This record gives sequence, C-alpha cells and structure tokens, in this order.
Amino acid sequence: MEAQGSILTNKYAEGYPGRRYYGGCVHVDVVEDIARRRACSLFGAEHANVQPHSGTQANMAVFFSVLEAGDAYLGMDLAHGGHLSMGHPKSFSGILYRATPYSVRRDDHRIDYDQVRDLARKHRPKMIIAGASAYPRTIDYALFGEIAREVNAYLMADVAHLAGLIVAEQHPSPIPHADFVTTTTHKTLRGPRGGMVLCRKELAAKLDSCIFPGMQGGPLMHVIAAKAVALAEAATPGFREYQKLVVENAKALAEALLEEGFTLVSGGTDNHLILVDLTAFGLTGAAAQDMLEQAGMTVNKNSIPFDPLPPAMSSGIRIGTPAVTTRWMGPPEMRIIARLIARVLTNPGDETIIARVAEQVTELCSRFPLYAEDGHRTNR
Ligand SMILES: Cc1ncc(COP(=O)(O)O)c(C=O)c1O
Repeated sequence: MEAQGSILTNKYAEGYPGRRYYGGCVHVDVVEDIARRRACSLFGAEHANVQPHSGTQANMAVFFSVLEAGDAYLGMDLAHGGHLSMGHPKSFSGILYRATPYSVRRDDHRIDYDQVRDLARKHRPKMIIAGASAYPRTIDYALFGEIAREVNAYLMADVAHLAGLIVAEQHPSPIPHADFVTTTTHKTLRGPRGGMVLCRKELAAKLDSCIFPGMQGGPLMHVIAAKAVALAEAATPGFREYQKLVVENAKALAEALLEEGFTLVSGGTDNHLILVDLTAFGLTGAAAQDMLEQAGMTVNKNSIPFDPLPPAMSSGIRIGTPAVTTRWMGPPEMRIIARLIARVLTNPGDETIIARVAEQVTELCSRFPLYAEDGHRTNR
C-alpha cells in the first residue's frame, strides 16, 4: 500500500524498460525490471509482463496474442466456476471468440477431464483455458497440457485464485505445462489490484506488444512497484507459512461446516475456498449473503454446479480463508466461524441472533488485529 500510494503514480512510462516513449524513465525502468525478475524467479517462468491493469486484461492479452476473431477455445463453464473472461456472452471472450464450455461432473463436482478431451477433439480449439473463480479442488494442469498438445492447442492457465498457493507449493504449478499463465496480483498473491502474464521466451514479444500498444496505454508504475513488493513478500518463509495455514484453515472450516449440517460442493476443499450449497436450508445465496453481512461476515452469493437459480440469486455462497488467515486466525477460529455462520443461517431473519453474532464477530476480530500498532501487517 505504501508503494501503491507513492509518487510513482506521477510518471508516464508507455513502453517497456529501455524502450519507453517518454524520457525520465530511468527509475521506473528499475522498478519494472525488478518486478519482472521477481515474477520469473518466483514462478520459475521465462518471461513476465507485469503491466496488465487487471486479471481480465491479462487474459485478454493472451487471447490477442494467439487467437484471431472467431477462433474456438475451451473454458470452464461460468455456471460451474469459470470466470466472466472465459466466455460470458457480454465479455470480449464471448463476443470476439467462439467459447465452448466444459463442466464439472454431476456426481463429484470435479472437472470432467474426459469431457474436456472429447470437446477438444470435436471442436479443435486454438486454446484451452485451465482456471476458475469458484472451484474448490486441485486443477490437473499436467492433464490439461496433455489434452492441449493432443489437439495442438495453446494452454492458458489462469491462476488468479491460486497464485499464492502455487508459489508456496500448496497447489501444483502450471508452469511446466502451460504456454501462458495469467493471474491477478490481488487475490492469494496478496498484492495490489492488478494482473500479470507469464510465458515462454518465444511468446514474449507477441504478448508484450498485445498488452502495449495492443490494449493498454501507460502502465501504472505505482501498482507495478507494489507488485514488486508483493512478489518479494511471496518469496519469504512467512508467506509460505501463511499459505499453508490458508489451506489448513479452509479444510478446518469445511469440516466444521459439514458438522453444522451444511452441504459442500464436491464435499470439501483442496484449496483456499469453499462453496456451500444452501439448497437443503431453503435459502438462496443472495439471502444468506445479506444475513451474514448484517452479522459482520462478508461472503458472496455464488452459483453452484447445475444451479436451478439465476446467478443474481444462486443457491450457494463462496467462502475463502485468505483474509481471516492474514489476521493469523487458525483452525480453532474456523470452528467458531462455522458456528457463527450456522447460527445466522439456521435462524433466518432473527434480529436478536444476528445482533448477538455481530458482537461475537467483532470480539473475534479484535483478538486478531489486521495491523500491528506501527501500522504494518501483523507477523508471527
Ligand atoms: C479466475 C479469474 N480470472 C480472472 C479474474 C479477473 O480479474 P479482475 O477482476 O482483476 O479483472 C478473476 C477475478 O475474479 C478470476 O477469478
């Protein structure tokens, strides 16, 4: 946040280090070079572009690099956990290209890799996207890579959600299998709001020109400085410890929610998030989100696979553990949180209970302050 609030916001720097359209870029060149180097070394990638303003723009840059308008690609069905930039009809990805969605299996809610292979053979896509916004299980990038190679398609892994877990070795890395890896820098990577693309050397020039001048103007140098800081933090033992606890907490929260009688999509989680199916509680995701918000707990309504309700209502909520883990809450606190969630959702509309739970939420948070007295993030 210090880097992002710095004077680097004042500098225009269209282009790339050493090849700018402006003078006076000597210092921002250093900043961007550091960010790129750190990204490559952290992920084990050959090339990094740290300029995308967001995760969506990182994805767009890859589309622009290797697809022509009208080309076919495979992406995860939005209703099964995919992101808008993987084929929503109002997104560039749905307007400009031919998206074929793949799904999760009905019985275990895991990605149906047989279907991915069948669709790839049938549609001969130019690219396959492996990645999701709401998928609680491990993604098999090796298998995606095998399928992509079989049909001569590019593989793009969108690790927006998983980047932090990947660098801390809490989730397999797509780097050996994917042509492009895109990510946001603000989710589990815990940096500033923005995007990033990693790729092999031979794709670097094409990718860079698609980002600038292809789809963006001047880079946000203050944000790139903050990305460099986040990438340095992500290389520390403390970050690894944090990510391990993120996953441990998600498992603890999942188990505690199951004990409270909730149904979980896929029965649990391998990563940092949990999708709760509220159908049996007779609640919509939207109603649950509202009630929990009143009680001081922020979650979001989320479609569940094969959801009969539209996304604006949806039958589920999505819960992640990265934020509470940043406060260094652990499994005992996850059990408290599960109990608080259950109290609210099993007594819908009970204002007394909501008020009582809100007090308990405040008390719990005050025991785990987000910032130390010097204004910095609390460390162990
Ligand atoms: C998998 C995935 N890709 C891309 C994005 C897009 O990121 P942004 O909101 O920065 O455009 C998201 C954001 O939710 C995401 O979950």
